[in-house]
Amino acid sequence: MHRVVQISDTHLSPTKQHFACNWEPLTGWLAAQQPDLVIHTGDVTVDGADLDDDFAHCNALLRSLDVPVLSIPGNHDVGEAYHPHQPVNEERLSRWREHLGEDFWVRDLEGWRLIGLNSMLFGSDEAEEKRQLAWLDRQIAESDGRCLGWFLHRPLFIESPTEGDKGYWSVPPRPRAHLLDLVRKHQVAFVASGHLHRAHDFAVDGTRYIWGPSAGFVVGPEMQAGMAGSATLGAVTYGFEGRDYTAKIQEITALKTLWIDDVIHEVYPPHVA
Ligand SMILES: [Fe+2]
Ligand SMILES: [Fe+2]
Repeated sequence: MHRVVQISDTHLSPTKQHFACNWEPLTGWLAAQQPDLVIHTGDVTVDGADLDDDFAHCNALLRSLDVPVLSIPGNHDVGEAYHPHQPVNEERLSRWREHLGEDFWVRDLEGWRLIGLNSMLFGSDEAEEKRQLAWLDRQIAESDGRCLGWFLHRPLFIESPTEGDKGYWSVPPRPRAHLLDLVRKHQVAFVASGHLHRAHDFAVDGTRYIWGPSAGFVVGPEMQAGMAGSATLGAVTYGFEGRDYTAKIQEITALKTLWIDDVIHEVYPPHVA
């Protein structure tokens, strides 16, 4: 069996150490899992999209794990589509690649093809958005009958595939529709995401959607009123064997429950022009 652990939203920085106390208990828990591969589904950094030092710091921490790590970027790592102050662009993508490797990637296991996607490109109209989609088509076409599992930062939707624009929380409807067509047409087994800092596991049209919890902090009910899932800190464990797989959200009780609401003014101060 091939053991994979998904971690997400660690939000680490050498200068903003608000969530740093959760790194050591996370690494202790990870070591006990003995995974063959760790997949980080983004927001590796607190807000490192313009900060080389934050990337160097996070890369050193990830490398200190005694296991291969594949990461995909979050909004705080490479910026967001059409963001007024921190848009995703070539410079920010280059910074990610220089420190943490490719921002979209494929990893084959026996019977499976795992695809990591840079969800921050969806709806950006950057040249890289087209390149990623053409690449994705090729990865699917060449999957040679393997089962497909996707990993990305922003979920494709929150409640329903046909819902309107959920703004900050999910992929916008226009790029979402194309991606969901691919999911349906190619019977993608699961789509695993981060970003929401919530744990949830549900199925729509035969595909499983797994919200990987943060291992850094949770978000208070004021910001996520009525949202499904639970404000739990943890990770997701996967076991792949032939064409079968298991996925289980794991609460990690050794992590300290930190709330972004208590420190948001320090961690994400309003932009000063
Ligand atoms: Fe996050
Ligand atoms: Fe995020």
